[in-house]
Amino acid sequence: MSNKKKRRRHKKQLRVDRLIALLVILAAMIAALFYGSSLLFHLLFPAKPAEETKAPSTATPIVTTTPDTQEQEEEHPELYDVNSILFCANKKHPLPDNYQPADLVYVNVTQTHGDTTLRKEAADSMVTMFQAAEADGVALVLGSGFRDQTYQTNLYNMYVSQSGQAYADSISSRPGYSEHQTGLAADIKAPDDGTFLDETFFNTPQGQWLYNNAYRFGWILRYPEGKEDITGYSYEPWHYRYVGIETATAMHNIDPNLTFEEYFNIEGGTYN
Ligand code: DAL
Ligand code: ZN
Repeated sequence: MSNKKKRRRHKKQLRVDRLIALLVILAAMIAALFYGSSLLFHLLFPAKPAEETKAPSTATPIVTTTPDTQEQEEEHPELYDVNSILFCANKKHPLPDNYQPADLVYVNVTQTHGDTTLRKEAADSMVTMFQAAEADGVALVLGSGFRDQTYQTNLYNMYVSQSGQAYADSISSRPGYSEHQTGLAADIKAPDDGTFLDETFFNTPQGQWLYNNAYRFGWILRYPEGKEDITGYSYEPWHYRYVGIETATAMHNIDPNLTFEEYFNIEGGTYN
């Protein structure tokens, strides 16, 4: 090959090399430009955090299983209505100050005091119950029925002065907290006083008859044995509470020792 031809070929090779270099530089510049603008875009318009963009959670909210007082009050307003036969008087639920039921009537059964009253519905039911017991050969006697706040004050103070407040609180309600003030509670006894206000009353024919039958007339054993922490009171096999036949039967069918507090899932064992 002549020298002239060689130089021409060399020049041509140089042009091709320069063109390739130029193309490479151009491609690098385009890439840099693309990357730079993308970086700038992300800096100016950052993506929203994943938390904000994800779909709302459909998980079930956590709910508390123990109803609070407000929920209970909405579900069972009768427990908080002093005129209802389901009004609940316990250490957490006092009565209105000096409350006295408007429908108190004399209870026409054999009774200790001779002037004992109860609310009409409870009194009528007690007459029927005593007659049914008598038909079964069991004579019942009514001790305490309705007690007004002054009477309860004197009774409670007497227990405090005799045995101290802690003991008094275990057997007697403070003034304004006694179920006897509702006119729906009664202490029932045998004709003789041997077991009056005594746990052994449970073993008498009267105690047994009431335990097995009182619910049929709407009465529940209010302070059962073994439920002292729930009711706040010692076992009282003589103290019955009128709640109506439907509720008393429903409670008895679950357990004759079921408390009002357990059945309605309400608090009661201690004073606030
Ligand atoms: N003995 C009951 C608790 C009362 O005093 O009402
Ligand atoms: Zn009582």
